[in-house]
This record gives sequence, C-alpha cells and structure tokens, in this order.
Amino acid sequence: MVVGMQLFIDSANISEIQQVAALGIISGVTTNPSLLAKEDPSTPVEKIIASIHEIVGGHISVEVVSTDTEGMIREAEEILSWLPEATIKIPMTAAGLSAVYELSRREIPTNVTLVFSPTQALAAANAGARYVSIFLGRLDDIGQDGVGVLRQVMEIWDVQGLEAEIIAASIRHPMHIVEAARAGAPIATVPYKVLMQSLKHPLTDAGLEAFLRDAAKWHKQSVTA
Ligand code: G3P
Repeated sequence: MVVGMQLFIDSANISEIQQVAALGIISGVTTNPSLLAKEDPSTPVEKIIASIHEIVGGHISVEVVSTDTEGMIREAEEILSWLPEATIKIPMTAAGLSAVYELSRREIPTNVTLVFSPTQALAAANAGARYVSIFLGRLDDIGQDGVGVLRQVMEIWDVQGLEAEIIAASIRHPMHIVEAARAGAPIATVPYKVLMQSLKHPLTDAGLEAFLRDAAKWHKQSVTA
C-alpha cells in the first residue's frame, strides 16, 4: 500500500524505467513529446508506451500534440485504442480545457500539463482534470518561485477541498522532491537522474564501507578459529 507522496518517473526510456521500477519506489510514469523524441525513432510510440506500461503497470500519462480540441480528442481516442489505461495529457490552453471538459464527461482521465499558476490550476480542475501538473523547474528558470506556486496551489486545494490530484512536475533536483512533499503534493514526477541522486548520501556510502571493512575482520577470525 502506498502512503504519502507517490513518486512517478518522468521518462520514456525503457532502461531507466526498468531500473527504477525494480527498486519498488515508483507507481507511475509521465511522458511528454520531448521525452519520447529522445528515444529510438524506429520504435513506434505505441510500442514504447506499451512496454512502459508492462514494466510499471500503474499510472501512465501520454500527451497529445494537436492544438485544436477535436484533434486532441481524436488523439485521445487513438491513444486509448492502444492503451485503455492511459491518462491523456493535455496542454493548459483554451482548446485543451475544452478537450478536458469533453473527456471528463466521458470519464476519461486527463492530466493538464504546462500549468504555471494557481488560476490555471483552478481552471484545469473546474474543466474536470483528474491530474494537474505544476512545473516547478521551469518557473525557477525564469526567476519565479516554482515551490511557492505549488504551495499556493496546495493551500487552495486544501481550503476548497478540490479533488484533482496535483503532480509536482519539472523537478530538477532532490530539494524539489522534499519541498513537494512538504507542500503536501500527492505526486511528484521525477527524472531518472534526480530519482537516483535522491537515494544517495555520502554518509551511507562511508558507513557501508566501514561496516564491510569490519565485517571482513570478524569473518576472517571466525574462519581461522
Ligand atoms: O513532463 C513534464 C515536466 O516534468 C517536464 O520537465 O524538466 O522538461 O521542465 P522539464
């Protein structure tokens, strides 16, 4: 049973996803067109998505690339034809909100992406989004406070009792994970490199080295005794 903030991996790379899934620390995967563009272009996207789903099993967000509502809905239908469990990732635009509204009417889960402000988050929730992705790193990149925006959103969610699940996205370093958890975000989607960094501590490495050195001493003694 998962308690507390869930971790998703923000990646479309099978090897990265396999490694992290084997650790038992992730319960979902988010992809986007830029992540998919890094993968082997000879493998069809639907094959990559199917393999990811086979490995992790839980949440998987797949993004549409149309900019008009009808196109987004058509793409959502196509994605769901190859993976009925998919959550459809829709950009935070007027056309995107209409698509979210229509898809939620059909009870299809959506993840509204590229959300940078509390008002955008509220609109996404009102349109019927199941998930709302707040981009921390990209706000920091332009000199704004990504964590501050996430905190505001979480406060509004708390006060208003909103149900859409907030995903802390565009995570760039382990402190973003810490701050997302402190803010009460139910999910953080984290790139492979940052997930692995977040597991490391120099005192863990030094401590283990000392334990193994000492274990070798008593192991030698018990063999010679
Ligand atoms: O998947 C959406 C988001 O996490 C992208 O992150 O690092 O490209 O801003 P980044």
